[in-house]
Amino acid sequence: MNNKKRIMSGMRSTGKLHLGHYFGVLTNWVKLQNEYEAFYFIADWHALTTKYNDTANLKENVKDVTLDWLACGIDPNKATIYLQSLVPETAELHIYLSMITPQNWVERDPTLKDMTKILRTQGASDNSITYGLLGYPVLMTADIITFNADYVPVGVDQVAHIEISRDIVRRFNNIYKVEYFKEPEPLLTNIPLLKGIDGNKMGKSFNNDIKISDDEETTEKKILKAITDRNRMRRDDKGNPENCEVAYTYWKIFGNDEDLRQIEADCTSAKLGCADCKRCLAKKVNEYLRPIREKRIELAKNPETVKEILIEGSKRARIEARKTLDGAKEAIGMYF
Ligand code: TRP
Ligand code: SF4
Repeated sequence: MNNKKRIMSGMRSTGKLHLGHYFGVLTNWVKLQNEYEAFYFIADWHALTTKYNDTANLKENVKDVTLDWLACGIDPNKATIYLQSLVPETAELHIYLSMITPQNWVERDPTLKDMTKILRTQGASDNSITYGLLGYPVLMTADIITFNADYVPVGVDQVAHIEISRDIVRRFNNIYKVEYFKEPEPLLTNIPLLKGIDGNKMGKSFNNDIKISDDEETTEKKILKAITDRNRMRRDDKGNPENCEVAYTYWKIFGNDEDLRQIEADCTSAKLGCADCKRCLAKKVNEYLRPIREKRIELAKNPETVKEILIEGSKRARIEARKTLDGAKEAIGMYF
């Protein structure tokens, strides 16, 4: 008998993952897969909500995300790893949810508003914002309730979506007078956000990210561009790690107490220049990532095995999904 609580979460497949994903989400998922019955999936339908006309890399992106996950320690023997589009029961659930979700709920979704704002600044016309994109939180709700998950481990940026999911679930239960679906709760961690090298939020589209799969040279090049103490103009100016916008925040993650003490002393006395400091930091980051990167390279040599993991996981997920779907149809009163 398995009485572990259930969690489920996913990521859109938009390309190789970066350290923001790693520290913000993946390390948490790796830990949680030991404590919960976990379902982790690649949201390739959600990727299509904005990239429906740019599908050349879809397959490659799914492969890259899977490799990143496995290399970082997501374990198919502990968690069910699956691909959203290989579990079509979720789409069927989405249809039912779309019938009961008020239009103004999705239109008010703040996360979605942000997404459309970004799309518009990138030159999107009215026609490029689609019905599918509007349904983003409804599809997310379908993902979550497919497994009747108790908790959804996500970053704060996803919390507004999950609020809508709770509302939709409550509405379903009210309308059909059942206690069928659980109201999902976000499971947040207090991991500090890792900034991008320019000091903004790390993101692939901002060109300020360090990829898990970057090679060591690329990593060093990127880190050498990291923002430091903006008041330290010249090499002999004394610096202050607390005002060092990016580089020192990385040190706090990748360095040990001894490193931090040393950097602090040498920065404030101007014994250490920023370029050398960052070169040293790059070495630390590369050392940290080396086993993950080596594992990723090994896994990439066997694309069939990687594919098999997704297919097997999706089969397992479908069994659960079928049960949930049948119960939902029963609750609604469908003929089947
Ligand atoms: N919206 C999430 C993201 O952008 C991906 C996602 C889709 C998701 N469905 C989900 C996350 C269900 C958690 C639960 O990364
Ligand atoms: Fe930041 Fe290091 Fe430069 Fe000090 S020496 S300001 S910690 S990069």
